Amino acid sequence: MSGGTKLIIVALIVTGLYAWFGNSIPQSAWEAPQKKVLTPDMKPAELAEAGRDIFKRAGCGVCHSVRGETLRGPDLSRIGAERDAEIMAAILYNGTDVMPAANKAPAYLNDAEITAVVAYMQSLGGRPKVKIGDIKSGGLE
Ligand code: HEC
Repeated sequence: MSGGTKLIIVALIVTGLYAWFGNSIPQSAWEAPQKKVLTPDMKPAELAEAGRDIFKRAGCGVCHSVRGETLRGPDLSRIGAERDAEIMAAILYNGTDVMPAANKAPAYLNDAEITAVVAYMQSLGGRPKVKIGDIKSGGLE
């Protein structure tokens, strides 16, 4: 066998070993965090629970604490006792000079997701009451 042939055989064996080793490592598929499906039959308390995740995902927590701290925006730990759903929905759809509207960039929440966030905020210092369908672009039905 010539030196060149030997080298090719060694190279093939090494490649084969790497392939075998690579395949022996258990593969775990990466999955995006599951978006919870929001349906009209969900109880306000279930919506509030989903709303807590949406609140996190939408980045509300960058500016709002729910445990008494003042960040860029006001603390929301008692917002459910302080504001009704109509006011919450209005601020979420309209935003302010500082706060981006929740249905626009960067959060792009839809009506159902905004309703869930409102239910979550109602639960902070109060009781969740809204259901899917209660809040549609811009206000309470
Ligand atoms: C860039 C910072 C920022 C982000 C992000 C933000 N907010 Fe705000 N938010 C504010 C500020 C600041 C105010 C107070 C009004 C003002 O000065 O513009 C406010 C006001 C509010 C109010 C009214 C509070 C009150 O006492 O009446 C609610 C409710 C609220 N935000 C909810 C949310 C939710 C829910 C999200 C996520 C979808 C969010 N905010 C994202 C900054 C932010």
